[in-house]
Amino acid sequence: MQRTIVGIDVGTTKVCTIVAQVKDSGRVNILGVGLTPSKGLDRGVVVNIDDAINAISNSVEKAERLSGYRIGTAFVGVAGRHISSLNSRGVVAIGRPDHEITRNDIARAVEAAQAVALPTQREVIHVIPRAYVVDGHEGIRDPVGMSGYRLEVETHIVTGEVMAIQNLIKSVQRAGVEIDDLVLQPLASGEAVLTEEDKDRGVMLVDIGGGTTDIAIFIQGGIWHTSVIPVGGNHFTNDLVYVLHTPHNTAEYLKLRYGSAIGDDMQDDTLIEADTLMAGEQQKISHTVLNQILQSRAEQIVELLYNEIRRSGYDGLLPAGIVLTGGCAQLPRFDELIREMLGIPVRVGVPTGLTGLADAIDSPPYATGVGLLRWGARHGQAMATLTQSGTAERNGGGWGNAYERVKSWLREFLP
Ligand SMILES: Nc1ncnc2c1ncn2[C@@H]1O[C@H](COP(=O)(O)OP(=O)(O)OP(=O)(O)O)[C@@H](O)[C@H]1O
Ligand SMILES: [Mg+2]
Repeated sequence: MQRTIVGIDVGTTKVCTIVAQVKDSGRVNILGVGLTPSKGLDRGVVVNIDDAINAISNSVEKAERLSGYRIGTAFVGVAGRHISSLNSRGVVAIGRPDHEITRNDIARAVEAAQAVALPTQREVIHVIPRAYVVDGHEGIRDPVGMSGYRLEVETHIVTGEVMAIQNLIKSVQRAGVEIDDLVLQPLASGEAVLTEEDKDRGVMLVDIGGGTTDIAIFIQGGIWHTSVIPVGGNHFTNDLVYVLHTPHNTAEYLKLRYGSAIGDDMQDDTLIEADTLMAGEQQKISHTVLNQILQSRAEQIVELLYNEIRRSGYDGLLPAGIVLTGGCAQLPRFDELIREMLGIPVRVGVPTGLTGLADAIDSPPYATGVGLLRWGARHGQAMATLTQSGTAERNGGGWGNAYERVKSWLREFLP
């Protein structure tokens, strides 16, 4: 089966809308992409609604023009430091005489797992079952049809601040698009760049964008830990501005043109001509010094990754290591630095399995956008997201209707 799905990645530096046909096999045929610089966002969170609406509208219009579709609904990525996650267990007794576990029992167990006390200003974004325990036997992926007295489900629950979520929803809706579902950005990126084998073996997805570093750890095929750290590529650029006294656009240019995450002493260090903060004045910058500044920020991010692995409570190895994606994954030798500091395998993840207008987006900054499409195909309800002649249809319920959403989570994740 193949569905037309839209993903909108509202990032700190860019908004990227992608219209695609997604097959059950995961192949993604890109019909149109609308890319615009982002505005009104700070570290993954909307801070100026009007600017955000403008940027999203521009991106959506571009994608519509290219694809010839009118976009009615979309899967939208969510991030920001307001996100937090926890693992929660739900337990139910199987009371029927035959003790055979049904989907309904799983739904009850998931509901029980959700009965965690949430502060009033927080909202649940995902409840993801990741493993089941039947009569004490751990690691069961699909208990339906098994017999048992006691069913436990381990779930991963992602929550965010109501206001931050509402501002994102409002920005997208005012740009004329209804939301099929909000998807935590690292979970979306994981869909684009991780294999099932990575997740089975144990892997950490790290998406370093402009404003945030988004993390998801998968163990034994299931999601174990997610987190959003408010540090990203903009910090590298700002460091160059402060230390080298150079304007922001020059600093960004130097980073993209000459940057490396390792500032080895170069035998014949080159000097790079650059603007200073004084109009018309030039300076000569050492290539080595430039990279040393970038290295110290890169090292800080690696330390944060290490803390996050420890904080996740998972003390085993991550045999599949780290898969690095997002715009900053393109900083040369960042993967090498992480490998050296943490002593685990690291690879740069790019979205694969794309056809159609795919040239522009088969690179790390588009992992979230592409992943939203796969997430939509995998977990979204059967829906008529788009109709070709311009009438966009809403699927029932939608974001905001809590009851519908709980029902849809259960539909999404039940084995
Ligand atoms: N070749 C490169 N070397 C170093 N940095 C790069 C390179 N290419 C892109 N970047 C940086 O990547 C960042 C943008 O990444 P990305 O497009 O993934 O961010 P985003 O999705 O808009 O932001 P976020 O996910 O944090 O909200 C910018 O800071 C940019 O400078
Ligand atoms: Mg991003």
